[in-house]
Amino acid sequence: MSTTMMHLADGIEIPQLGFGTWQVPQADAAAAVEAALKAGYRHIDTAQMYQNEAGVGEGLRASGVSRDEVFLTTKCNNTTHGFDASIAALEQSLDLLGLDHVDLYLIHWPQPSRDEYAATWKGFIEAKKRGLTRSIGVSNFHIPYLERIIAETGVTPSINQIELHPLLTQEPLVAECRRLGVAIESWSPLASGGIIGNPVIAEIAQGYGKSVAQTVIRWHLQLGYIVLPKSVTPARIAENIDVFDFELTPTELQRISALNEDSRTGPDPADLG
Ligand SMILES: NC(=O)c1ccc[n+]([C@@H]2O[C@H](COP(=O)([O-])OP(=O)(O)OC[C@H]3O[C@@H](n4cnc5c(N)ncnc54)[C@H](OP(=O)(O)O)[C@@H]3O)[C@@H](O)[C@H]2O)c1
Repeated sequence: MSTTMMHLADGIEIPQLGFGTWQVPQADAAAAVEAALKAGYRHIDTAQMYQNEAGVGEGLRASGVSRDEVFLTTKCNNTTHGFDASIAALEQSLDLLGLDHVDLYLIHWPQPSRDEYAATWKGFIEAKKRGLTRSIGVSNFHIPYLERIIAETGVTPSINQIELHPLLTQEPLVAECRRLGVAIESWSPLASGGIIGNPVIAEIAQGYGKSVAQTVIRWHLQLGYIVLPKSVTPARIAENIDVFDFELTPTELQRISALNEDSRTGPDPADLG
């Protein structure tokens, strides 16, 4: 098993398939991350909000995989926005992770009503200059928020990590990100498990002897998205990376995209203050 690599606009290389750790408790995070790295993942997604960074760092060390082979993302919590606070929060994350830098630091939520995300973005630019992170990006950013931070700083985020799955295809936002040179990362790529019983995808999956989860992950990869499935179940961790030996046809990709209902599992970022 392996994973494809993508080049971000800032020149950084990222494994297209990553491992999500939301709702993985601190006590389970080390085992889950170790299992993921042993199964072949080389990209781990955590966040200050998940309160599992110490476990993630422990799993990384226990795996025996060398630090420079792993792409590690963390995200700035909603409580630590602002220029100085976002840099201090990253320093604290690095302490918890036991690392001297992360590969990607994301603004987790824009919280537009607080109107601090532009100052936070300026802190991110400084954090990158100081070598605390190799790449900087955002999460849950609608188009106007992206346009604002680019206009105020001239620095374009490498990534926008957004909720994206067959029930929420986000086509207008994806098109605009592509125009701006911002890579798309799909969070809750399996709709937090809600896509698993889908009969259309089950029929397509059956034709390849693959599971619904594998078929959906393949859909993300073939559409050019970075994708972050999460599981704490060792068999599923292995299953979700076993997706590099089949290819969906353009018609199958379209059938899956046509399932879009614009339906979110999480909040609309405009409403999260
Ligand atoms: N930036 C943001 O605001 C944001 C928000 C949400 C998530 N994220 C990121 O995106 C990652 C993924 O999102 P997510 O955790 O919501 O969900 P997901 O990957 O869409 O789905 C995870 C759920 O599906 C189950 N599952 C996983 N693989 C499966 C398989 N092969 N067959 C059947 N069920 C399977 C998991 O169960 P088990 O674990 O019990 O096996 C879990 O209940 C997160 O972990 C996090 O890193 C980011």
